[in-house]
Amino acid sequence: MTTTQQTVTREELRARVDALPRVHFAHLPTPLEDLPRLTEELGGPRILVKREDATGLAFGGNKARHYEFEMAHLKEQGFNAIVNIMDYHSNNARVTGAAANKMGFKYVLILKNAKDRVIQGNLLVDKILGAELHLLSEEESERAEELADELGKRLEEEGYKPYVRQQYAFPKYVGSLAYVDCALEIAEQLEALGITKKVRFFGVAGRSTAGLILTAKNLGLDWKATGIAVNYETEMQEYLYDVIGGAQEVLGLTTPFDPEDMTVMNQYIGEGYGIPTEAVIEAVHMLGRLEGLMIDPNYTGTAMSGLIDQIRQGNVPDDETVVFMHSGGLPAIFTFAEELAAYEG
Ligand SMILES: Cc1ncc(COP(=O)(O)O)c(C=O)c1O
Repeated sequence: MTTTQQTVTREELRARVDALPRVHFAHLPTPLEDLPRLTEELGGPRILVKREDATGLAFGGNKARHYEFEMAHLKEQGFNAIVNIMDYHSNNARVTGAAANKMGFKYVLILKNAKDRVIQGNLLVDKILGAELHLLSEEESERAEELADELGKRLEEEGYKPYVRQQYAFPKYVGSLAYVDCALEIAEQLEALGITKKVRFFGVAGRSTAGLILTAKNLGLDWKATGIAVNYETEMQEYLYDVIGGAQEVLGLTTPFDPEDMTVMNQYIGEGYGIPTEAVIEAVHMLGRLEGLMIDPNYTGTAMSGLIDQIRQGNVPDDETVVFMHSGGLPAIFTFAEELAAYEG
């Protein structure tokens, strides 16, 4: 639940965000668009989509906004190389690579469970971005941290100042910080549309959705959020509580995020992360067919399958305005070509 007790004005919060070190390479503001044909098909409330997939940096996504803050921070600290450990399908790995290239940083990417994979989707983009790739087998993945340290040392010997990112706290909360920026953008866009009440966000449960709610609580906005979980591994409430403190502190926000503020739904994950359910495949096709909008089969497809189901079940009142957060992840469409192509409607 959001509180209506405003602790800061929008102008003041904007000023605090704008005072942070930042580089500019995302296409902002991203559009906030209507999805009228989806609303009609579902017979439900008005649905808008915030196009964070359109941030523009190597297929976009929410991470492009994060890295505007993170890269500026790294540059200030004198870093000029990044060593990253991610999974083979990672959107984060891809956007970090694109942002690192923009900054002129060397980018060394250790990808777990990646050996002998088809070079497609995010992995293909990582390759095109020219990252120094270390593709590990499942067994080798167990010593990824050790390898990152070794590669960090090698970079130091070569004269770089490497940022071996797992060691630092900043990326932990930059995801929520960046979504305070996004929330300010959305508040303006909604106001321009005359929508000031009963706003319900739907999106992947994570730092971004938490950042939106943190903002709403401190601006006294009538916003609620439903976060759709995409894996069973992350204890979401605990994780969010852990990551958001830094954003609150940096921005001097006095009403803290409370994990209870977000309704987290686990029932749309299916077998597990990266195994799209039938409902996800249906959602991807539905959005393409009705709205010409691409969503991905890992993150936004899962979130959209949750939204569709919640509306079909009658759990989203018609007097609410839904804002679906399109957080990106589009290269995964190509990784899951087989599953998506098998759909017969
Ligand atoms: C496409 C996409 N959406 C959402 C998320 C969740 O991100 P966050 O926790 O920063 O909100 C991710 C994370 O990798 C992602 O790749």
